[in-house]
Amino acid sequence: MKKILFVFGTRPEAIKVAPLIKKFQENKDYFITKTCNTGQHKEMLDQVLDFFQIESDYKLNIMTENQTLYSITEKIISKLKIVLEDFSPDYVFVHGDTSTTMAASLASFYHGAKICHIEAGLRTSDLRNPFPEEANRRITSVLANYHFCPTNSSKHNLLKENIKEENIIVTGNTVIDALFYGLEKIKQKPHKIQSLKSKLLKNKKNILITCHRRENHGEGILNVCKAIKQLAIVNENHQFIFPVHLNPKILNIVHNELNNIQNVVLIEPLDYPNFIWLMNESQIIITDSGGVQEEAPSLGKPVIVVRDETERPEAVEAGTVKLVGSDTELIINNVQELIDNSSLYNKMSSAHNPYGDGNSVEKIINFFKTYQ
Ligand code: UD1
Ligand code: UDP
Repeated sequence: MKKILFVFGTRPEAIKVAPLIKKFQENKDYFITKTCNTGQHKEMLDQVLDFFQIESDYKLNIMTENQTLYSITEKIISKLKIVLEDFSPDYVFVHGDTSTTMAASLASFYHGAKICHIEAGLRTSDLRNPFPEEANRRITSVLANYHFCPTNSSKHNLLKENIKEENIIVTGNTVIDALFYGLEKIKQKPHKIQSLKSKLLKNKKNILITCHRRENHGEGILNVCKAIKQLAIVNENHQFIFPVHLNPKILNIVHNELNNIQNVVLIEPLDYPNFIWLMNESQIIITDSGGVQEEAPSLGKPVIVVRDETERPEAVEAGTVKLVGSDTELIINNVQELIDNSSLYNKMSSAHNPYGDGNSVEKIINFFKTYQ
């Protein structure tokens, strides 16, 4: 039987690999499956694992406050060596473009395990933007044996880099599998949302905000906050709900700039079911998140992206996502236009599924059962 190790470390990786881990674990006759949690994130990751009921067989516990790229990478490589020697997996699954992804790929390459990269082939034109994610995913592509791409355009990016076509499998994005699973769970257990509902103001339309990327640290997040403040003052019928990332470089600025505005609601990061419920209840989303850009088209929610480049052109082409950057005036103008112009709003809010129909996990496991 083949031995499979899943390595993950941050909130989005855990959300996107959770349905796949569960599927591999169900197939006990084919695979011995273990999980390794690097602990690049702590609270934000643990709540995902709780929701999907996933245990970590190995825990590397690397997170420290204000950690650096050097410390994350160095600790994961040296600690993962011990895990790889203990379990000796045939295949290691990594996801996306975080430092966990890149360091786990390198350690697995040193060990001689085959690397399976989920959400492969996303690209911008600039190695330093997003930083360091664009470099992380390119390094992972060089090391990986199998590349599970969300779309044909991500496959095309890999073909341009001379990756062999027989090792590229287009599957859709597993985030859609996770989203459908989460929406179904909320239907079954609506009481789980009660505590969040009690924190929101009554009879106001919701505008949801998330922001965390390194390129928005400093001036970027300050500009976003200034825009939210102005928009909140002008739009009293709306509430601006901001689950704030735990990174002190984000948290401190957001609380300094947006505290005590009556229609701005600052809350801690939400667990996955609460977050997707809130996305569904929102009129507009302002974000720099990658995962949110993928989920929003399925829910038909217009997204204003506060970044200069995106590796997710499908969502822009689908019309749900608009790339605006982090200039305060541009954010204000674009959000205000969406609030005031109902025909523009209706155009952006039609539902699309550029990232798949929720069957990505099935496609990945079928590939494994057939070819491995
Ligand atoms: C990381 C990823 C980024 C991904 C994001 C998802 C890298 C380099 N960055 O960025 O690609 O989009 O996760 O959210 O891999 N913290 C906590 N508790 C937590 C999580 C974070 O306190 O549960 C704080 C810590 O002080 C930590 C800091 O946030 O040092 C930054 O975490 P880090 O993983 O380095 O960066 P992110 O911005 O979260
Ligand atoms: N998310 C969540 N709670 C929050 C904010 C986001 O569960 O408070 C989910 C969101 O639905 C998406 C993922 O986290 O699936 C995105 O993570 P993040 O924005 O941190 O990282 P990125 O996708 O930008 O790498």
